[in-house]
Amino acid sequence: MKSRRYYIETYGCQMNEYDSELVAGILEEKNYQSVEDFHNADAIFVNTCAIREGAEQRVMSRLGQYKKRKEDAPNTIIGVLGCMAQNLKDKILTEKPFVDFVLGPDAYRNLSNMLDQYHKDEETLINTRLSRHEVYEGMFPSRKEGINAWIAITRGCDKFCTFCIVPYTRGRERSRSVESIVDEVKRVVDEGFVEITLLGQNVNSYQYENSGFPELLDAVSEVEGVRRIRYTSPHPQDIDDDLLEVMRDNPKICNHIHLPLQSGSTEVLERMNRTYTREEYLRLVDRIYEYLPDCGISTDIIVGFPGETEEQFMETVSMMRQVRFDNAFMFKYSARPYTKAIEFEDTVPDEVKSDRLQHIIDLQNEITLEKNRELIGTTAQVLVEKDSKKSDKQWMGRTDENRIVVFDKNGELPRDVVPLRIYDAQGVTLFGEHLN
Ligand code: SAH
Ligand code: SF4
Ligand code: F3S
Repeated sequence: MKSRRYYIETYGCQMNEYDSELVAGILEEKNYQSVEDFHNADAIFVNTCAIREGAEQRVMSRLGQYKKRKEDAPNTIIGVLGCMAQNLKDKILTEKPFVDFVLGPDAYRNLSNMLDQYHKDEETLINTRLSRHEVYEGMFPSRKEGINAWIAITRGCDKFCTFCIVPYTRGRERSRSVESIVDEVKRVVDEGFVEITLLGQNVNSYQYENSGFPELLDAVSEVEGVRRIRYTSPHPQDIDDDLLEVMRDNPKICNHIHLPLQSGSTEVLERMNRTYTREEYLRLVDRIYEYLPDCGISTDIIVGFPGETEEQFMETVSMMRQVRFDNAFMFKYSARPYTKAIEFEDTVPDEVKSDRLQHIIDLQNEITLEKNRELIGTTAQVLVEKDSKKSDKQWMGRTDENRIVVFDKNGELPRDVVPLRIYDAQGVTLFGEHLN
């Protein structure tokens, strides 16, 4: 049979990247080959994100381009996957009737059968049912060559932060067996990956039979050939001493924690249902540094949550100054369907949200640069990833703490770990030189 060609475009978080690789695995088993340009594809899939309104709008306009392609080549299959499929299937079906498949994040196992069925009767096929059990055990993602492999270990979320749509698009929390995770780690090491990033909406609430997250980290680190292990995103509530101990004692687990703060105001945190106060978060940061004095800490922050006063916003600012995060992802609050916060009165005008966002972006840039300058003169172990953006005579790599370092090539190759002296810092980038 002549092979068909597919194209997948991915929006949203690393979990979506992973899911696209799962879908690629399914398609390749059906003799589909990946192409880089959607104009050459027989099947176009877009794996979507619903976290903020902007993410949805980008996909909707992208679908307009796919529609044109379908007009030129009517046999092209167009599929919408992921969180927006779950959330907006009715809108997609009425406004984008050229879409052939709508599959939610728990429905990919059906894709193979659905393709067969579609080739028979060419009807639009929809499956957005959420599952309490699906963890895609026994299915193997097709990954592009690289350094880091994503591996999903939990799916769904039961935390129900009041601003967040994820519990509605991804369903209930569930964990994969240790055995199937370790199996997948072995496979990716055989494929040449040396860094593993374990993924979950709440990665550290992992629990499978008697194994919690710290036990899983140890099990993964025992796989020969694994050089570095990262994970994202943990919830502050579920970081305990056992986890910090394993991170301290196991050199393969990177010294980096992405610790979403969301707000520095206890009142706002309470309305967000984040389950910790400002003080508890600060104590947690202290505890992290007690166990891991050099730990890199990054965060996520939302400004303009309904009812956020100037004073409460300034508490986020003071918290950022106090903690001095290495890096932060910062967002304007976006009201999402199904969530509790959509019922809260949205008292923060958009211009104020934009000003607040700009304020903390400027502040974080300052802090990142200051912290990076403090590293000048120190040495770092850098895992080489690829050519730097600016020059093929330089590599870019990462430190254990997840800082980006650029340095001149000197015979090393991607996957090597190189000791470097840091001599400069610009923005989020450090510049290193070989020792001696
Ligand atoms: N599970 C992770 C984060 C998932 S979403 C966690 O609990 O931390 C990634 C980030 O998007 C969140 O940390 C939050 O900062 C942001 N986010 C989620 N919903 C949002 C909304 N409605 N508006 C703006 N930002 C949002
Ligand atoms: Fe969303 Fe909160 Fe779950 Fe993170 S923990 S995915 S922010 S509901
Ligand atoms: Fe977006 Fe879904 Fe991830 S909403 S952030 S793709 S879990």
